[in-house]
Parts: sequence; C-alpha cells; structure tokens
Amino acid sequence: MLRRISQLSIGSRLRGNDVLVVTLKRGIEVPQLVFLPHPVFCPEGAVVEAPSGKSICDVMLENDIEIEHACDRVCACTTCHVLVREGFDSLNEPEEKEEDMLDKAWGLEAVSRLSCQAIVGAEDLVVEIPKYTINHAAEKNH
Ligand code: FES
Repeated sequence: MLRRISQLSIGSRLRGNDVLVVTLKRGIEVPQLVFLPHPVFCPEGAVVEAPSGKSICDVMLENDIEIEHACDRVCACTTCHVLVREGFDSLNEPEEKEEDMLDKAWGLEAVSRLSCQAIVGAEDLVVEIPKYTINHAAEKNH
C-alpha cells in the first residue's frame, strides 16, 4: 500500500512504497506596473502587467509608452530616467556605470533609475517619468 507524503522535514526518510507529493503553486504571479500620468508619454497614466526579468524601459515601449531611449538602451544616456515611487528595492542593483550616468540626469532622486537598466523583480511597481530629460540632440530640433 502506498503512503502519500506531502511534507518532509529535515531528516525525514522515505520508505519503500512512500510517494512524495509535491504541489506546485498554481499560476505565476506577474508584477503590476503603474505608470503615473505624464503629459507627453502617457497623459492618462497606465497600469500594465509585466513578467519579472524585463527592463522597465522595455515594458513601457511594449505598452506604447514611448519614453525616450536615445542610446538604444545601452546605459549611455539619461533619457530613459524614471523615478520608482514604489517597489524600488525589488529591482536589481544598479551597476556603477548606471550610477555614473544617473548623476547627470535631470531631477535625480534617491529612487531614480535608468529604466533600460532597471529589471522588474517580483513586486509591483509605481513608476513616474520625470517632467524633463536631458537630450541635447532632441533639444536642438525643438
Ligand atoms: S536608453 Fe540610454 S541609458 Fe537607457
């Protein structure tokens, strides 16, 4: 006769006909990203779901929030700068190169990130796009 075992503690031993039953949690939690209204990029604000592992910049672009990304997401500009109002600590740690670039960003705050370098973790986020960016190339054309 089989014996169902659904929990093991350290030191437990399975015996001859024991069957270990592993129950996986159903569904995968997908973090929700709230983008606060920005007059140009998302006047109404937006709420989207995005799997962990994507950059905030990619999530925005995939959801028609056309944030500037002048260096094409290689951490060589500050046009994709965002302020992560909630969930900041769930993001990956910024690398030194990102921190160096952020020092040049308009409106730098303790919750600033370059969105192309900030990877969505397991928590929901609230993201604000700053009112201005520093993009000399764009400024010349306007
Ligand atoms: S797009 Fe240039 S640093 Fe993110």
